[in-house]
This record gives sequence, C-alpha cells and structure tokens, in this order.
Amino acid sequence: MKMPANIKKIAPYKPGKPIEELEREMGLKGIIKMASNENPLGPSPKALDAIMKFKKNIFRYPDGNGYELVQALGKQLKVPPGRIALGNGSNELIELLTRAFLLPGDEAVMADFTFSLYRNMVEIAHATVVAVPLKGFRHDLNAMAAKITDQTRMVFICNPNNPTGTLLPRHEIKEFLSAIPADIIVVLDHAYEEFVTDSTYTSLIEEVDRHENLIILRTFSKLYGLAGLRIGYGIGSEGMIETLNRVRQPFNTSLLSQKAAIAALGDQTHIKASRASNIAGKAYLYQCFDELKITYVPTEANFIFFEFDRAKELFDWMLKEGIIIRHIGENYLRVTIGKPRENQAFKKKLKQFIHKK
Ligand SMILES: Cc1ncc(COP(=O)(O)O)c(C=O)c1O
Repeated sequence: MKMPANIKKIAPYKPGKPIEELEREMGLKGIIKMASNENPLGPSPKALDAIMKFKKNIFRYPDGNGYELVQALGKQLKVPPGRIALGNGSNELIELLTRAFLLPGDEAVMADFTFSLYRNMVEIAHATVVAVPLKGFRHDLNAMAAKITDQTRMVFICNPNNPTGTLLPRHEIKEFLSAIPADIIVVLDHAYEEFVTDSTYTSLIEEVDRHENLIILRTFSKLYGLAGLRIGYGIGSEGMIETLNRVRQPFNTSLLSQKAAIAALGDQTHIKASRASNIAGKAYLYQCFDELKITYVPTEANFIFFEFDRAKELFDWMLKEGIIIRHIGENYLRVTIGKPRENQAFKKKLKQFIHKK
C-alpha cells in the first residue's frame, strides 16, 4: 500500500493479545496480565451499576458535551466546566492537541524514553520530534528548555513518567512553565497522578489559571479501572478547551463511559482500596527485587521499571509461563503492580528464571 512518508515510518501499536485468545493459543489457563498498567482490582462496582442502569439508553446518541461528567469533574477539581475537555481516553486528547496545534515542520519536544503515543501523533501531524534524553530516569527539564527553538510548538511532560515511574517536583515544572515562551503548548500528562505517594506532591491544576498554554491530561483508565471504556479528560484554559472542541468528533465519548466515569469518580471506597493495593504491591515487589538483587527505579505510579541483562529472554519466558510483562528495549522491562496473587506469581517465576541457568 502506498503511504505518505510520515505514516510509513510509524510502527503500528502492538497491543497485547486478549488474554482469552492467548489462553486458547497456549493451552494455558489463568494468564496474568501485568503489562498495561490497568487497575488489578477491576472497575468500581458503582461504575458497573451505572452501566447496568443506563445500558437501555444506548440506542440514543450520548450527550456530545458530556455535561453531567464535566460538571462532576468541575465540582471535584474546583475548575469551571469550560476548562474541561473530555476525550475517548486521554489518548484522544493527545491526538486532538497535535491536530489542533501542530503544522508541518513544527517541532515537539519530549523525553526520549516516554509514552510512545506522543511521537506517533506528532509524526502523523507532519511535525518533528525533538527527543531529549532522560537524566537519572527523569525528565531533564533544563535540557528540554534548551532544545526550544522558533519552530517549537509543543512540549510533552509525562509525570509520573511512563515507563520509568519517576516524578518531577512541582517547583521544576513551575519554573519550566515560567521560562518558556507562552505560545508553546505544554502537555502535562498526569495519567498516573492518582497513584503518587510522595507527600510533597500537590496537583498543578491551579497553574492552568496562570498559563493559557498549559493542558493537564488525566484518565479514568488507570486508578478508576475503566480502560476498556475509553474516557479521559484535559484541564486547560478556556481558549485551549474551545480549540479542542473544534477539532473533536461531536460524540467522542460514549454514554456508558460518561455514566461509569461519574460513578467511579464518587466511589471513594474503590479509590482508597485501589491506592492501598498499589502501595502494598509496590512494597512487595521492591522487596522481591531487593532480594533478587535486581535494579529497579522507585515508582510513583502503578508499575515498576527494572533492569535485567537478559530482558527479552525473560519477557519471552514469562509469556510462555503465563505472565505478561512489558519489554521496554535494551535491558529494561516494566511490570504493572498487581494483586497479591499476581505479584507472588511474578516473583516465583522471576526466581525460577534466575535459578534456571
Ligand atoms: C502516560 C500515559 N498517558 C496516557 C495514556 C492513555 O490513557 P487512556 O487510556 O486514557 O487513553 C497512557 C496509557 O497507558 C499512559 O501511559
């Protein structure tokens, strides 16, 4: 198939196979997925109730503006509704941002080791990626600021960063925002913010009042356990949100995703349980890595990035043994923090692999 050059160089996203299909293919039961940073506890029961309640209404188009969800978010975040945009997952918002703001030849600055979708979306928009190496597995904001040129139109900061799980202190981001030209769009991707345990961290939402060029992205896919429904949101200036609303499809978020998100947002029991499970799982996996003398990067998210000299071999073997993790490249892997049973199975297999040779 003949393709434009910018599309040709994009590797299609390789999603993990559905567990059911893998189980059939491999003749295994009970495959454990620790690859996509989903909530191992599943969705909020309140979200499931909302889906059951509203399923009879799916013959109608959803409210294209997601009025009720935007109101609920605005109330909880203390942000006027006009500053919130909904997306079909925060992925869609990344796409809308690149579609709305990038022109061919523009530059977008991002870390070299970060969420891969930024690069793809920038390239689809015929813009150029300027990748800046991480420093100590963290974004190097000074080096990123130094890469800004007259062509720079967008900067992506993933905080905590996927795949390394590192968090930038708030003052570094504030300084960065003040230092760069005000017409450069700064995308602060906070997909994992709800998992942060660093006691010095507080949300940067009020920065949106100070910087018209800032958008903060969040999602219901991670802590809230609604990845399969596809719903996320962005908080930005009214001008930013209005621009995104121009380029989105009229019904970009579904009825059931809106209803489930409202219910999940109010389900404090599920939110608390999910955070507690992540904290306990994190401690268990740290201990496992320490015991096995494996170097890992302390995480502020729901996954752990670790180093292993036979990374690809470990990944393939784990898969054969029914545990799906993520091979990040070179000697690096990422494992999503699971439920106790899943973390224990991961540890057992890791030990077996190490002692096998
Ligand atoms: C950093 C980051 N941003 C955004 C997303 C996309 O989330 P959503 O499911 O809301 O599209 C992910 C998903 O893995 C992610 O890791």
